[in-house]
Amino acid sequence: MRTVTLINGDGIGPEISDAVVKIIEASGLKIDWDVQTAGEDVIEKEGVPLPERVINSIKKNKIALKAPVTTPIGKGFRSVNVQLRKTLDLYANLRPCKNLPNVKTRFDNVDIVVVRENTEDLYAGIERQPDEDTAESIKIITRKASERICKFAFDYALQNGRKEVCVVTKANIMKLSDGMFLECYRKVAENYPQIKKREILVDNLCMQLVQKPEQFDVLVLPNLYGDIVSDLCAGLIGGLGVAQGANIGLDYAVFEPVHGSAPDIKGQNKANPTALLLSAIEMLRYIKENTYAEKIERALFKTLESGICTPDLGGNCSTTEFRDALISNL
Ligand code: NAI
Repeated sequence: MRTVTLINGDGIGPEISDAVVKIIEASGLKIDWDVQTAGEDVIEKEGVPLPERVINSIKKNKIALKAPVTTPIGKGFRSVNVQLRKTLDLYANLRPCKNLPNVKTRFDNVDIVVVRENTEDLYAGIERQPDEDTAESIKIITRKASERICKFAFDYALQNGRKEVCVVTKANIMKLSDGMFLECYRKVAENYPQIKKREILVDNLCMQLVQKPEQFDVLVLPNLYGDIVSDLCAGLIGGLGVAQGANIGLDYAVFEPVHGSAPDIKGQNKANPTALLLSAIEMLRYIKENTYAEKIERALFKTLESGICTPDLGGNCSTTEFRDALISNL
């Protein structure tokens, strides 16, 4: 039996992870969950929101499913999410964005996978203020990080039957930094003759995404553009309740929804577990449990098709009612 670390988070985290664990169990797949608490609720007992035992558990099991964790504001704690990405070198942020049945959006046929570089760019956090009226941020782009993220995007495309990998930069202006990212893309692309190539500037991409999003397949982007564009794409398919994600490195992978711990609806049994469930489905594909991934996905689609959904999608089901309806569709 496969052991997977489960970080059930705080806020709505425990409610949605309970739903997802029960759905996976009902599918017939046996997973040994190594449950690890993290976030606000453990600070009191253990002094930090991300105790070492959580990192050790992921290092041992290689794979984690993570519900959202609150980042305390102004208490001097680093974000659990940033810490996990850094400590485990999870260099690729993967965000598949696909229309779901009965989730009304402006566009049909959106099926985009955003691959965002997770470790450098303006997010390296190197800033200075040479004088009172000037602030500088340094944008770091390295060949090593750019090549590995482009390779990740092409490998993902190949393994998942995708046709095109489009690189997104502003290389016309940032000729050295974005220029290097583009150069790395072109070099890596030579090894994938089966996959179509495309290059686009990030401003043009944004316009095209809100006009004809169906034309895009896999996108690969440096960190900052990737952060912004992946939220734009999440908006195209119905927003936070349905937006899944994953942070993947060479050794470890953490699958998590895009949304946060939603303290405003905590404990009310109305959180939508779909984003965490979609993240779990992607995790099952990653560990080659495709049959179960597809079985659960079909049951999810069937549930949504029949109009059963939580209040964020316009429905009136509770988290547990949605869970039970989905289980009966398995
Ligand atoms: P949020 O995503 O928690 O909530 C934004 C809005 O969306 C709220 O109205 C919330 O009720 C709604 N929402 C979010 N997920 C939902 C779901 N599954 N079902 C129904 N409605 C849902 O963002 P916010 O309020 O900015 O952040 C709250 C906390 O979460 C913060 O401490 C933040 O740092 C943390 N956070 C954690 C993340 C993670 O663990 N990966 C990611 C983003 C934020």
